[in-house]
Amino acid sequence: MSEKATLTIEGKSYDFDVITGSENEKCIDFQQLRDTTGHITMDPGFGNTGSCYSSITYVDGAKGILRYRGYPIEELAEKASFVETAYLVLYGELPKAAQLKTFSARLKEHAPLHTNLEHHFSGFPTSAPPMAILSAMLNLVACFHPEVLEVPTTGEEFDRTVALLLSKVRTIAAFAYRMAAGKPINHPNPNLTYCGNFLHMMFSNPYQEYEVSPIIDKALNLFLVLHADHEQNCSTSTVRVVGSSRANLFSSVAAGVCALWGPLHGGANAAVIAMLEDIKKSGRPPAYYIDRAKDKDDPFKLMGFGHRVYKNFDPRSIILKKQVHDVLEALHLDDHLLDIALQLEEAILKDDYFISRNLYPNVDFYSGILLRAIGIPLNMYTVMFAIGRMPGWIANWKELHDHKLRISRPRQIYTGHTTRSFIPMSDR
Ligand code: CMC
Repeated sequence: MSEKATLTIEGKSYDFDVITGSENEKCIDFQQLRDTTGHITMDPGFGNTGSCYSSITYVDGAKGILRYRGYPIEELAEKASFVETAYLVLYGELPKAAQLKTFSARLKEHAPLHTNLEHHFSGFPTSAPPMAILSAMLNLVACFHPEVLEVPTTGEEFDRTVALLLSKVRTIAAFAYRMAAGKPINHPNPNLTYCGNFLHMMFSNPYQEYEVSPIIDKALNLFLVLHADHEQNCSTSTVRVVGSSRANLFSSVAAGVCALWGPLHGGANAAVIAMLEDIKKSGRPPAYYIDRAKDKDDPFKLMGFGHRVYKNFDPRSIILKKQVHDVLEALHLDDHLLDIALQLEEAILKDDYFISRNLYPNVDFYSGILLRAIGIPLNMYTVMFAIGRMPGWIANWKELHDHKLRISRPRQIYTGHTTRSFIPMSDR
């Protein structure tokens, strides 16, 4: 017999099904709550709301577990390339050699942008934030490839569209940077890997081809692998909400880019570096900033700390911290911001305010220092997050369509005026 939860309202009892996930997570199915009792649930921020069934990513916030399709993030970070990980997230299994070859060939084929699309970059002012350019250009790509607007979610056509999107997001990102920096664009080179090609498009110049160092290539792959998916976070939920109206894949992920941009989400990676720079410039000790973060009258927050789901540690921050040390050592670099970050983390891990609220470094705390070592400019950090998250957004959009699709439409509790009569202008 299936497990039930009983809810008693005004002396009357109602039974609801209890749903159990494959990792034994529990949920009460309240889909019929309003129809049977007349009540809705209230959960601003959706901290306790299950919005879907998903077989893509598993997160256990208490134990610091993150797995894509069952594979621990630690193993993927060590052994898988971003392209392999993207395939896994999208299709559910690690690719066999022939599948990886076809997938990689498609990514190469779709790397160039339509020439007329390239001209659009010059229409943006040089001060335009690359996240705004990325979001706008993702919708524009679809205008140049109208066949992708009506794409099915399985089969050859879908596979081609996925490769087109994953490949073009990287080209758009690099072109956005080059145009904003007033530099000529570098066209993709089909002989390079996914990450190598991105680095070439970002950093080659007419008189010198960028040489992709294996250390940098590995670091960039790892960064992207760690960002490939993270279940129902703000931007992925946005992609699902937009997709639920049957909006096309490109407009859905463009909306995901906009949601990611905010400093409480993906924008935190750039905000962490800005904060560390500020601490360095001010010459004040980290304690000053920790006290500000604890002061309820001060809106200041320590960027890169805290997470809605992880309440012990974020496994991605542990991997990134080690990678930052390895890369700086291998490249013989010394980053003063790393020293400040380490001091800040050490002080916070001993501080009651942060201990009692389970606030630990999240993925964004060390990722900015890694991106600095790779040579990525600050205004591109959140764009890098978006390139990494693309497989997760697409996989969630596909899963949404593979299940029974119902438009997202939450309810509210109205707290405004009850009915009142219109007042003529002369009486107001
Ligand atoms: N600095 C100081 N206090 C904090 C912080 C912080 N970074 N984060 C949370 N708190 C406090 C918060 O003020 C609240 O205190 P109280 O209980 O006294 O009111 C308590 O901790 C619980 O926080 P919350 O805001 O209710 O937690 P949330 O789950 O709604 O928000 C968060 C999670 C990530 C938005 C938040 O921790 C935060 O703003 N962190 C800084 C921004 C950041 O690093 N974002 C990246 C998140 S991870 C990657 C991603 O999603 O993109």
